[in-house]
Amino acid sequence: MPVITIAEAKAHVGEDVTFQGWLYNKRSSGKILFLQVRDGTGVIQAVLSESDSSELFAVADRLPREASIVVTGALREDRRAPTGCELQLSDLQVVHEPTKPFPIELTEHTPSFLMDHRHLWIRTGRQVPLLRIRDSVFRAFREFFHQRGFVSTEAPVLTGTSVEGTTTLFELDYFGDKAYLAQSGQLYLEATAMALGKVYWIGPAFRAEKSKTRKHVTEFWIAEAEMAYVDHEANLTLQEDLVRFIVEAVVEERKPELEQLERDTDLLLGEVRTPFARVDYGEVVTILQEKGHEVSFGDDFGAPEEATLGEHFGGPVFVERFPFRMKPFYMKRDPLDPERVLAADLIAPEGYGEIIGGSQRVDTEDELIAQLEEFGLPSDPYQWYIDLRSYGSVPHSGFGMGLARVIAWISGVPHIREVIPFARQINRLYP
Ligand code: 4AD
Ligand code: MG
Repeated sequence: MPVITIAEAKAHVGEDVTFQGWLYNKRSSGKILFLQVRDGTGVIQAVLSESDSSELFAVADRLPREASIVVTGALREDRRAPTGCELQLSDLQVVHEPTKPFPIELTEHTPSFLMDHRHLWIRTGRQVPLLRIRDSVFRAFREFFHQRGFVSTEAPVLTGTSVEGTTTLFELDYFGDKAYLAQSGQLYLEATAMALGKVYWIGPAFRAEKSKTRKHVTEFWIAEAEMAYVDHEANLTLQEDLVRFIVEAVVEERKPELEQLERDTDLLLGEVRTPFARVDYGEVVTILQEKGHEVSFGDDFGAPEEATLGEHFGGPVFVERFPFRMKPFYMKRDPLDPERVLAADLIAPEGYGEIIGGSQRVDTEDELIAQLEEFGLPSDPYQWYIDLRSYGSVPHSGFGMGLARVIAWISGVPHIREVIPFARQINRLYP
């Protein structure tokens, strides 16, 4: 019998097929058993009457949830089923029978119970579509840059310096010296961009951040790009094209998953119509103040402010030209106003917060040395980075995107811990 996936079932109605999967759930109505079988691509109902085979019925009847099983039978059309069909069971092999009852009920559990059982929770409910959407977001990011001739590269995770400030560094002992887990690959991407022109990567980033919000984890996958001979304006245009490309690609590729999550994809596609709004930081502060927020010039925005911005603009919005002091040392000052930097954060709609941080980079030796000093950073460990401004320096720009926040927004789930296979938070290192 041909082995197919549940996602392929509809095209095989009328045929005898085999699925390899797990028993997701089960119910019976007297002498008929309805087995929900999952295989990672979907869930299908397999039906068995006691009158068809009392032997098979007895086996199926006592099977616990999450038993691994191989099921065979004829596919019958069933318009009401999400898969469009159901399986008339004719054979069932038990590959492994669980040694303990499966702890996750398909009803309600507390978030902490679910996170404690994350290794099993991922098999259930919306977790499967979420992880499939994650797969598509990663692929779309890479596809976008591949199509535009960027070179995929890597940055080290073990580093000797900070990028995004010294307060969120994870420090470790490196054979007697201090090393840090990378907060971002940016500084290294700047070096590879000077070798290759345009580069990108997706890699892990670490922040010893004590925030317990729905948007912060201590380890996340950052997606970054860096471009030689690209200025601030072109950097923003590329970012909005990228965000639109990712959303459109995922809506196209993951229709059934987004339906299962009841995500309004028309709303999503409407939100990413380009160009996105580009608003000066000072103007944003004024808008927020007019809407009753207690923010002053120089403040960062919190979740309530970000939610207001999403409502006000109805789509992603670039907050541009931040005060120099608010941002890291490497940003280029605005020639028209040296108290500001050529930087922008992209704030997602619906309260999903900052999904991209980017800027044009300081590109002269003197300015960089002065800025390191202003931030109280020693220049020695950054000598290699200063070197990039000593040998054929060019205007260059780049950005980093928080993939988990993008996935949460596209999926419409509130907390990013649900779109990360195994999220790391202040109080969570297991499973
Ligand atoms: O804004 P950030 O800190 O920018 C950088 O790291 C730059 N070096 C990027 C660059 O220009 N190459 O981080 C980039 C993005 C944020 O916009 C946010 O989406 C995400 O990374 N991010 C987090 N996501 C989850 N948990 C955290 N603790 C995050 N911190 C930042
Ligand atoms: Mg940022």
